[in-house]
Amino acid sequence: MLTTIERTTERTTTALVSRPRRLRRTPALRRLACETELRAEQLIAPLFVMAGTDIARPIGSMPGQSQWSVDRLGAEVDELVDLGVGAVLLFGLPATKDALGSAGWDPAGPVPQAIRALKQRTPDLVIIADVCLCEYTDHGHCGVLDDATGAVLNDETLPLLARVAVAYADAGADIVAPSAMMDGQVAAIRAALDVAGHREVPILAYAAKFASAFYGPFREAADSTPAFGDRRAYQLDPANGREALREVALDVEEGADMLMVKPAGLYLDIIRQVRDLHTLPLVAYQVSGEYAAQQAAVERGWLDERRAALESLIAIRRAGADLIITYYAKAAARWLQERSVDGRR
Ligand code: PBG
Repeated sequence: MLTTIERTTERTTTALVSRPRRLRRTPALRRLACETELRAEQLIAPLFVMAGTDIARPIGSMPGQSQWSVDRLGAEVDELVDLGVGAVLLFGLPATKDALGSAGWDPAGPVPQAIRALKQRTPDLVIIADVCLCEYTDHGHCGVLDDATGAVLNDETLPLLARVAVAYADAGADIVAPSAMMDGQVAAIRAALDVAGHREVPILAYAAKFASAFYGPFREAADSTPAFGDRRAYQLDPANGREALREVALDVEEGADMLMVKPAGLYLDIIRQVRDLHTLPLVAYQVSGEYAAQQAAVERGWLDERRAALESLIAIRRAGADLIITYYAKAAARWLQERSVDGRR
């Protein structure tokens, strides 16, 4: 004997026309209905290159990541190439630092050396070089300082960033990626590259880069923590979405070839808006703190590493990013390979 409520429920459910669960019934149907794909070639692996030899030093706050000397970098990069990872993004830790960050444009610095070595070893691998001063300045800011006030000077920083970009292009970088958030940096670098004969070297602009707490582990890895103050006078306020779109539009006007939103997971709305407004390839940077936070929970047994990582990456793709810079690049490429073998989702 059915109650009145049960009878009513039965009538309405048998009348249901739309049953999205029909397409979720089996793994094969779910694969067929899958809207977003994640491939190893869409992943970019950040790598920290140090001056010196025989160094492979694990980074405490980023389990699974290391700082590499150039001679030890090759083996790591071979693995990434074998797994089909799309590109690497190089950061440098120089032997010495000064107020201007002059080690940044030293052709014998760790990044130019690494570029030359990798180009010999795996010529087809796409090498992206991050262009900034913060790893090279003794004060850790992304530009040069006003002696009197300590403020980061915009226009005085531009020619230095241009020198760094040209040094990396001279060494053979496939793409340069300015991340200092100085106004006009894309135009300044474009002009300098062209004059130096690097018309074909594209610029991946860190177009919308927020002043995020989630860069903490990176600053340990790259030894680039500001000696005083913070980066809020040049990086975006996390509260400002419209301003981010303005930054992106300016970089497009200045000649950027690819755009970046950074961080990724907390800024999916910005990724989506940039995707809808612009046609250039869009890159999202899943930053050190996003990786570290997830990995910390994994270490405690609170999250499943593979599922959480792949979910965080597919969400960034779904929001509209074409490519993802991520510390999970190697692991994710391996998981994706396994999945294509066993057909799992
Ligand atoms: C350099 C730079 C930073 C990151 C990429 N390029 C640090 C910063 O702005 O302080 C952060 C990357 C990460 O957290 O993974 N300006």
